[in-house]
Amino acid sequence: MHQIASSSVDWNALREDFPILRERAHGHPLIYFDSAATSQKPRPVIDALRHYYEHENANVHRGLHELSSRATEAYERSRQRVAKYLNAASADEVVFTRGTTESINLVAHAWGGKFLRTGDVVLLTEMEHHSNLVPWQLLAERMGARLRFVPVRDDGRLALDQLPSLLTPEVKLFAFTHISNSLGTINPVAELCQKARAVGTLTLVDAAQSAGHSPINVQELGCDFLAFSGHKMCGPTGIGALYGRGEILDSMPPWHGGGEMIVSVTLEKSAFKKAPHRFEAGTPNIAGAIGLAAAVDYIERIGRPAIFEHDAHLARYAAERLAELPGMRILGPTDERGALVGFVMEAAHPHDLTTFADQYGLAMRGGHHCNQPLMRRFGVPGTTRASFYFYNTIEEIDRMIEILRAAVRFFS
Ligand SMILES: Cc1ncc(COP(=O)(O)O)c(C=O)c1O
Repeated sequence: MHQIASSSVDWNALREDFPILRERAHGHPLIYFDSAATSQKPRPVIDALRHYYEHENANVHRGLHELSSRATEAYERSRQRVAKYLNAASADEVVFTRGTTESINLVAHAWGGKFLRTGDVVLLTEMEHHSNLVPWQLLAERMGARLRFVPVRDDGRLALDQLPSLLTPEVKLFAFTHISNSLGTINPVAELCQKARAVGTLTLVDAAQSAGHSPINVQELGCDFLAFSGHKMCGPTGIGALYGRGEILDSMPPWHGGGEMIVSVTLEKSAFKKAPHRFEAGTPNIAGAIGLAAAVDYIERIGRPAIFEHDAHLARYAAERLAELPGMRILGPTDERGALVGFVMEAAHPHDLTTFADQYGLAMRGGHHCNQPLMRRFGVPGTTRASFYFYNTIEEIDRMIEILRAAVRFFS
């Protein structure tokens, strides 16, 4: 029997915090292996949203009444909480957004629109989620800039030996994922940021798959931007953040115009607030920010090093057990991986396999995972992805293997 890691956390007790885990699907106990798409939400986060709407709901930054003060205070406290979670130098370096996708689009519009010139290069990797690819394609087209890509090796790691010829002075920004959402590869963020800095290139880290699973210290990593989504780390949907190094955020123009982000407006012209408020036009997702702060508190009570160890253990165990099945191809590094395993079973298309598993209450994801170029790179139409979080168990993985064995029989 596999024991999970050395930490003293009672992982089974934590499951009780997630009401949805008691659901049944197609008559079977739910096994939720789709946390890379979105995580489930613990009671303290659900309670924080409810508390906000029952006791604090008002618009922020504009009302001169008690409720508005409460809402503004709670919203700005949430910003401070997120800043501390990332070890940002100041809460002014945290912009609330709808999530990773919007954070990256913000940088592409506001930074890219001002600083990118014809012939400049944005360096990406072949393993980027469409969210960290399409905004740069649009920007490159608009500005006459070029995109370049760090290739992915057969073992799912970046071909870093090619970096010297790719990371040249024309590269103005290097944007890459911390953990691949299809391969589970964990990229060496600090090393990549340091190499970029050495040639005067800014860096953007897509932390969608890491922010809720592993410690993140933006000052130690040395990144200029970092983007993440609340919903993948126990928080509500529709909220996330962009970390931006203070002096860079201050140099960027707004990207959306409207209320909340101005100091003064005449019919002809407006003056804008400083960062981060100049990037938050309109009424923000106040409840979302408060829910995100509750998620951060919840995760911090467990401890990110323990979560990382737990999730990595589950992913390694799942990869080992999957390899026992006939006709199984597992993508991504074999030794160290984030909290997910992507695989292809010879006998069945990923969509068919995922639909089969669903009949047994096993929720996985089948398809290209917003990684079409990466799927092409590996010559597969898509994969089935089992992704884990701290509320998953070894027993659930054993059950997954039983279900997949039945699938092998069914599809062969
Ligand atoms: C690596 C990665 N980047 C970006 C995103 C986009 O996140 P969101 O849809 O929350 O903006 C995802 C979501 O799956 C992801 O896995």
